[in-house]
Amino acid sequence: MSESLGFGQCSKIEKSDISHVWEKVTVPLGERSYDILIGPGLLLEVPSRLKEVYDGPGPFVITDSNVRDFIGEDFIRFLRDEGFKDAKILSFEAGERSKNIETVIKLARELVNIGADRTSLLLALGGGVVGDICGFLASIYMRGIPFIQLPTTLLAQVDSSVGGKTGVDIPEGKNLIGTFAQPRAVYADIGTLTSLSQAEIRNGISEIVKYGMIKDEGLFTLLEEKWWDVLNLEPHVTASVVKRSCEIKAEVVSKDEREGGYRRILNFGHTIGHAVEAASNYTIPHGEAVAMGMVAVGKISVGRSLLSKKAYQRLVELLNRFGLPVDIPKEIRPEEVLLNIKKDKKVKRGKVNFVLSKGIGETVIVDDVTDEEVLRAI
Ligand code: GLY
Repeated sequence: MSESLGFGQCSKIEKSDISHVWEKVTVPLGERSYDILIGPGLLLEVPSRLKEVYDGPGPFVITDSNVRDFIGEDFIRFLRDEGFKDAKILSFEAGERSKNIETVIKLARELVNIGADRTSLLLALGGGVVGDICGFLASIYMRGIPFIQLPTTLLAQVDSSVGGKTGVDIPEGKNLIGTFAQPRAVYADIGTLTSLSQAEIRNGISEIVKYGMIKDEGLFTLLEEKWWDVLNLEPHVTASVVKRSCEIKAEVVSKDEREGGYRRILNFGHTIGHAVEAASNYTIPHGEAVAMGMVAVGKISVGRSLLSKKAYQRLVELLNRFGLPVDIPKEIRPEEVLLNIKKDKKVKRGKVNFVLSKGIGETVIVDDVTDEEVLRAI
């Protein structure tokens, strides 16, 4: 399989039979650079594009039970129609509970049994759990085979499908086993988002607000002005906010692929957010927990006179408009949140890194936030 999927140098790809323009973002990582294509109807395009660059066994689509029923079988038909006669689909039960090493081993054994070899290609069709499992499996199967991300949730399109973090959970914590493995391409078909619930859309929007907060006041202002279009997935606005989010993530990942330092800014709101998620026994969705986390670090930032009260208020108001929670529910004990923060895998020699806000679009990473500051903020 060639390094690139043959998108050429054009920044936009026109398709005459669909009256829109697809957007392209490149993740610049030298030999491992890849393109993210964004737009409606892209999944239909994948088989013919693959045909130009791939003639190995498969490809093998990894998905979950929901996506398999929804579009998985159709997608396999498109692949077969394009001449990939031995294309197959492998699935596991939908949900974070499947994100474990047993699922990976089961899928690996199925791959061996259906003849996947070192030249095979995996396609991750689904949300974040599918992308993380498929990416991890691809990175270790026969010491590593290529994979492509086909994210079908907003959260996966703006975050988890980009940047090469893969992995599974263990009882001791989420994502504690994993690899960095970049996909060969990402096709974010925004048409697939129309089947998502409002809760799933909000989950992704929280990450988009994060990108505005850490890097781009223009994106933040766009969200303030077009919040209704964002919530209702108006195609042009959706394509533009997904593109901007991917550009920001691509820029950060290209500077610090393995999170030596700079990539940590992507964890804005996540240190407290993850701790709240865990304290709720994962009943609070990721995006909602991140929204609460962003507000909490916003308060800490205001307390340190880094962030103006006015900017903090803009954050709270924007999250409110999207129906995202800004307060941590009373049943979550602050002491437990604090304990979880200290157990986070990113804690180094007892020091917890917090990404604070210096204004909309600007951050600073500190490691001296006190327990009292956290408790006051939550
Ligand atoms: N989701 C954070 C990162 O990819 O680094």
